Amino acid sequence: MKLVFLGPPGAGKGTQAELLRKNYGFDHISTGEVLRQEIKKNTKLGKKVEEYVNKGALAPDPIVTKIIKKWLNELDSKKGIVLDGFPRNLNQAESLEEDIKIDYVLYFDLDEKNIIKRLSNRLYCPNCKKFYNLKYNPPKEDKLCDNCKNELIRRNDDSPEAIKKRLKVYTENTHPLVKHYEQEEILIHIDASKNINEVFNQVIERINIEKT
Ligand code: AP5
Repeated sequence: MKLVFLGPPGAGKGTQAELLRKNYGFDHISTGEVLRQEIKKNTKLGKKVEEYVNKGALAPDPIVTKIIKKWLNELDSKKGIVLDGFPRNLNQAESLEEDIKIDYVLYFDLDEKNIIKRLSNRLYCPNCKKFYNLKYNPPKEDKLCDNCKNELIRRNDDSPEAIKKRLKVYTENTHPLVKHYEQEEILIHIDASKNINEVFNQVIERINIEKT
């Protein structure tokens, strides 16, 4: 099964994609995470995208499209795949359609007040990439990762200015994809305001896979 996770920043796309990976063996790619790793490693690609990502702007289409196409080419998925954060505009959607047929697009719907609450309380482990939230799913020990005990950090693009920019970019560039996939009749609406388990239950029910 091939899934796209669509939704505003902080709606819980990454959290839910990881649950599908852990519980059902889906392959998960987050374009945002790939770009953050390139920036961290200071690669040529990382240097090209750093300014865009930190400011909350979209990285250039040819760069992200190339990342996704390479991943899809090398993939040998048995269970299913989740594209988290790709496509993010119509141009990217059209490039993707040249390569694969998407079964469902899950649209994680969340209002702005909740988005800001979630993003401003998010912490992340730079080692194992696990996300936490000081309000909704805090680490067991203060600011330390439960898995690897690394110190948790904030993402550079979770600053108030970058959040504002990401919301604007989402509204102008990404949200129009909701209509696009509605017309394709593959859009599934998820109420992302519920707690993490309730959202996950909606996900597995709507894509029709059995509970583990
Ligand atoms: P990306 O990393 O994809 O960021 P995003 O889309 O803004 O989404 P987030 O990762 O912020 O949020 P999420 O929906 O995954 O929520 P999460 O699960 O973390 O992209 C970053 C940047 O990379 C972009 O701005 C752009 O520059 C670039 N980029 C990426 N893809 C691109 C593309 N295709 N084209 C061009 N540029 C691209 O949850 C958020 C918080 O809430 C966490 O703390 C979590 O613990 C908590 N939480 C999750 N679910 C719940 C719940 N149900 N209840 C309470 N708390 C919850």
